[in-house]
Amino acid sequence: MSGLRGEFSSRLGFILATAGSAVGIGNLVAFPVVATKYGGGAFLVIYIAFVVLICFPVMLAEIAMGRAAKKNPVGAFYTLSGESKFWSRLGGLAILTPFMISVFYSVITIWIMMYIVQSAIGNLDRLAEPAAFGEIVASPMLFVYFILTMSIVFTILAGGVKDGIEKAAKILMPTLMIMLIALVLFVLTLDNAVEGLRYYLIPDFSRIDSTVLRSALNQAFFSLSLGMGILITYGSYFNKEEKIVNTTGMVALMDTSVAFIAGLLILPAIFAMNPGVDVQTLSESSVSLIFSYLPQLFLEMESLLGYVGASFVATFFFVLVFFAAMTSLVSISEIPIAWMVDEKQFSRRKAIAIMALVGGALTVLASMSLGMVGWLSSMLNYGGINKSLFDVIYDLFFDTILPLIGFIVCIFCSYRWKRSDFMREIGQGDDKYASSLLASYVNLSLGTFIPLILLLVFANNVAQIYFGFNLLGF
Ligand code: PHE
Repeated sequence: MSGLRGEFSSRLGFILATAGSAVGIGNLVAFPVVATKYGGGAFLVIYIAFVVLICFPVMLAEIAMGRAAKKNPVGAFYTLSGESKFWSRLGGLAILTPFMISVFYSVITIWIMMYIVQSAIGNLDRLAEPAAFGEIVASPMLFVYFILTMSIVFTILAGGVKDGIEKAAKILMPTLMIMLIALVLFVLTLDNAVEGLRYYLIPDFSRIDSTVLRSALNQAFFSLSLGMGILITYGSYFNKEEKIVNTTGMVALMDTSVAFIAGLLILPAIFAMNPGVDVQTLSESSVSLIFSYLPQLFLEMESLLGYVGASFVATFFFVLVFFAAMTSLVSISEIPIAWMVDEKQFSRRKAIAIMALVGGALTVLASMSLGMVGWLSSMLNYGGINKSLFDVIYDLFFDTILPLIGFIVCIFCSYRWKRSDFMREIGQGDDKYASSLLASYVNLSLGTFIPLILLLVFANNVAQIYFGFNLLGF
């Protein structure tokens, strides 16, 4: 994708590549977990409002920046600011962030690979035991899966089999959707599942507090691949005749639908397996929640399909999640690679080798920080909690920094890049945009209350996560 600056051949190509990046562990694993922990229906309403009112305009801004500059994030800030070093340094944050996200994302992808193999070889019953997740993430077998997973990612990156990925995405994404819906229908036949459905779909507004607000915003940014240079880079491959608004809308809609359906699956499953549960006390650790409930859910299918049938469904499901994770992982890794090629004039091969070495080393360390190695497992202590290396990377790059980068993008587009140029870029190829209601909303909000909200959420992320202190007071 980088080197020679290509363009997506078709609108569908762009939508698929961007949706492939957007739909991933964030939708299938993280969304149901945060929705469960932070208020169910109340979280869902806030999440959707944030996607429409805040994230969508910021997505437009990132894509417009990329298309106007035809550069990676650092290059885009540099060119559009009239060659300011200050802004290009800020753009550097949008290189570092996807790099660090690729580290914790790889760790989770490795677990998924492990779950595929374990359910395929008949160990679904073991996976469904409550202690299994803790044992798995601390098992030295992880190294084997690390090598397997990394080989796949870097083969894809090196071969530039973008075509292959896009073709596969065309088949696998709809398969994932169909399978998700079929699983939802199955879950809804279980006793007590309706309780979960109620918790997810009927908002209890008294649950809304600043934690719900900031978690919903962090989650929406992560899920839409926003605030980390992805959309700037993808926008740079976007041709001038495309309607940015329509295409971005499709991507946001697809991403949000997958997250919503994953919620329809997981929340009722949790209630069905733990009748009368108080979900807020369920689990401290976010990611582990899903890794223990999914195998239990598949095991439930034993009565219907037999053990082999249930194991088959589980394996197939994890393969689809793995695929969604892969397309995301490739797109995250592409950002630092494109930066090294564009800005440092490295050959693509050298850039990939550096990424594999540095990213790989950090991934190994982060994998070992979940119980395998003591000092990595309780590396720092902040907010009153002992944190592992994995937690630190997750806190900083999933839970803290994304709204800050969103803030920078808003301020940049509204006050530094010539505003009229920015507006023209969004409307390029779309005659009706300039006079639309959306254009007035974007004009009004992107330089005013959107950055303000993003800055507040960022400040509260820092206060709550690192100092155990709630800035907003509710
Ligand atoms: N949006 C992806 C997900 O929800 C994750 C991702 C983040 C992908 C950053 C690319 C870049 O899983």
